[in-house]
Amino acid sequence: MRDSESRWQGGLSRRKALVGLASFLTGSRRLGAQLDPYRLRDRVPGLDEMRDVFDFEDVAFEKLDRATYNYTARGGGSEFTLRRNREAFQWVKLVLRGVGDETAPDATTSVLGTPMAFPLMLAPSAAHGVLHPDMETATYEGCRRAGETPMIVSHVSSMPFPDIAKADGGPLWFQLYAREELEQNREPLEAAQAAGAQAIVVTIDQQATYYDRTVHDRNLSLRPRRPPRYSGSAGRYRFTSSRMWYEWQFFEELRTMVRVPMLAKGILTGEDALLAIEHGVDGVVVSNHGGRTLDYAPSSLEVLPEIVDAVAGRIPVLIDSGFRRGSDVLKGLALGASAICLGRVPRWGLAAFGAPGVARVLEIVQSELLQAMANCGVSDVASATGAVVRTDFP
Ligand code: FNR
Ligand code: LAC
Repeated sequence: MRDSESRWQGGLSRRKALVGLASFLTGSRRLGAQLDPYRLRDRVPGLDEMRDVFDFEDVAFEKLDRATYNYTARGGGSEFTLRRNREAFQWVKLVLRGVGDETAPDATTSVLGTPMAFPLMLAPSAAHGVLHPDMETATYEGCRRAGETPMIVSHVSSMPFPDIAKADGGPLWFQLYAREELEQNREPLEAAQAAGAQAIVVTIDQQATYYDRTVHDRNLSLRPRRPPRYSGSAGRYRFTSSRMWYEWQFFEELRTMVRVPMLAKGILTGEDALLAIEHGVDGVVVSNHGGRTLDYAPSSLEVLPEIVDAVAGRIPVLIDSGFRRGSDVLKGLALGASAICLGRVPRWGLAAFGAPGVARVLEIVQSELLQAMANCGVSDVASATGAVVRTDFP
């Protein structure tokens, strides 16, 4: 008895068991930042069974390896901002007005000359190739099937912008991670514009990256990834020095290479929105990068009213971070956004079912939006005003 007890306490099998348990717990999405439903299933459901966007996340989880799933799912640091991006919607109530206009709501709109069937776009997100073999072409095809939803192609896409743009589809915008040396931005900007990019989105909120810490820690069962290479003297503090130099003046210089509207993505204060306007930017995307950059940044939804006030209609204000349902979209519109960008949602659709998954996940959000509009007596996008919501942000 004593022998077998001490074997249990000191033996390799106990350590193995503990490592196994730790890996299981750290990998469990129920202990992670996700506030929304995680449904345990004993089989992977099909496309026709998808009811809301979270169904797609479940299927994506089943189909992807842990590290790839985590790359999309996780946020920075303690994931406070990742959670807050979802919590924020709890502080905005919708005002039900079931009797009113009897016609179906019209959700068409246009932003900076880009027409849209719904006030929805795809936020730029990296490397669709890890999610599906057809990479960004599948995403773009999904967007085309879902009413030509505009897609913002990431600078770090798995395929070059011109190859994605070869297919017939809806509007494409291009997102730039700018280089310090001005001339080095000419080639990607020119390639995207020549291939038909209808706007350029310059992302400014990835100054330092540390979410690879979180991703690594949640992948205990995998061999550690090679740490990313950080160049320059800032490297030992996990700064990517290639992104540590932005000045607002730089936007005016970039502007000389851009023939289409140019937006700044990653704005979280009214003051920065005004600086963006002052330096020639045509639109802003209110975003905390889906909780992947500065942890303890506010949710984008709670700072949206401040930014909309500051901008006072001079330029369109887009928003992303945490939008999952049609009612979320209506709340964003009611608080003054011109359109809502979806980051993780289409990635779940792509990983789960390829192009048809992207199309279906978008159609679900679109129909939820129309239902929310109808319930709130909102007949079109312009009528989605502050009267539709009651906010009590803490
Ligand atoms: C991103 N995001 C992003 N943004 C950007 O400007 N360029 C990029 O290449 C990427 N890549 C990227 C990869 C992954 C896996 C995610 C989840 C996000 C940020 C993205 O554009 C957007 O800001 C957030 O995804 C919005 O939050 P939600 O919708 O994911 O909650
Ligand atoms: C990300 C980078 C690529 O969020 O923006 O993963």
